[in-house]
Amino acid sequence: GTTLGASAAEKGRYFGAAVAAYKLGDSVYTGILNREFNMVTPENEMKIDATEPNRNQFSYGNADRIVNHARSRGMRVRGHTLAWHSQQPGWMQNMSGSALRQAMLNHITQVATYYRGKIYSWDVVNEAFADGNSGARRDSNLQRTGNDWIEAAFRAARAADPGAKLCYNDYNTDNWSHAKTQAVYRLVQDFKNRGVPIDCVGLQSHFNNNSPYPSNYRTTLSSFAALGVDVQITELDIQGASATTYGNVVKDCLAVARCNGLTVWGIRDSDSWRASQTPLLFNNSGGKKPAYDGVLNAL
Ligand code: XIL
Repeated sequence: GTTLGASAAEKGRYFGAAVAAYKLGDSVYTGILNREFNMVTPENEMKIDATEPNRNQFSYGNADRIVNHARSRGMRVRGHTLAWHSQQPGWMQNMSGSALRQAMLNHITQVATYYRGKIYSWDVVNEAFADGNSGARRDSNLQRTGNDWIEAAFRAARAADPGAKLCYNDYNTDNWSHAKTQAVYRLVQDFKNRGVPIDCVGLQSHFNNNSPYPSNYRTTLSSFAALGVDVQITELDIQGASATTYGNVVKDCLAVARCNGLTVWGIRDSDSWRASQTPLLFNNSGGKKPAYDGVLNAL
């Protein structure tokens, strides 16, 4: 193939990008999106503060703009994210206990029902584990509602949209030897053993000097896949955008049958949440960087 999406499709994978609704009127941005990608993740527009800014008042305008743009052009959508400690609206930040648990479940039910049938995979729960060597859950208002909040979230999502793949998504879960990776592995293993609905694991894969691309990345992908879930690389960016490293990430995914797609976290470097790291595949003018060829040659 001559584009990321078409080449990935030849290998039975998708190639996606995080998209911001307010940029869809930028013809350079949208031109690249429409030409190269066949999966879209709303960068912020499906987060809790965006979709339920006031309790029980749902707001889907910006998310719909992205979903409609994608689906009308044959691209699929990753939903991001139904339950997360961050980017919560103020009303939710101020809640706790069983009231918060109910509010979380209501949010999941409402949003996943609204988009039922339109989402390829949902990041049901994002970033629920702590950094460092503990392997513990991250402390958050959601965690304090009880350790079973993650499985409750997945059950609610399955009931609301039975056709969507349900993912657990996190960062710093790329290195197989890290405690956080092992902790997520045990969560997925436990869910599979007990029949809690889970279909995929998302590895954000934000690589930089502090958390570099690990040489055992392929082991991580294949180990999760061996639990009987798909593995998706959900927010890929690489500080400095080495063509070799981008190519290696792609090769690792292609080497694992159940690694079924990659998403880069933005289009041009200037679109990146870490723009100063110039971590993406297109430069600020929309031109292809060497990393683009690194990816295309590996696909
Ligand atoms: C980031 C967005 O890119 C920024 O625009 C926003 O200000 C903060 O969130 N992990 C995630 C993503 O799961 O939702 C985050 O996106 C990046 C880290």
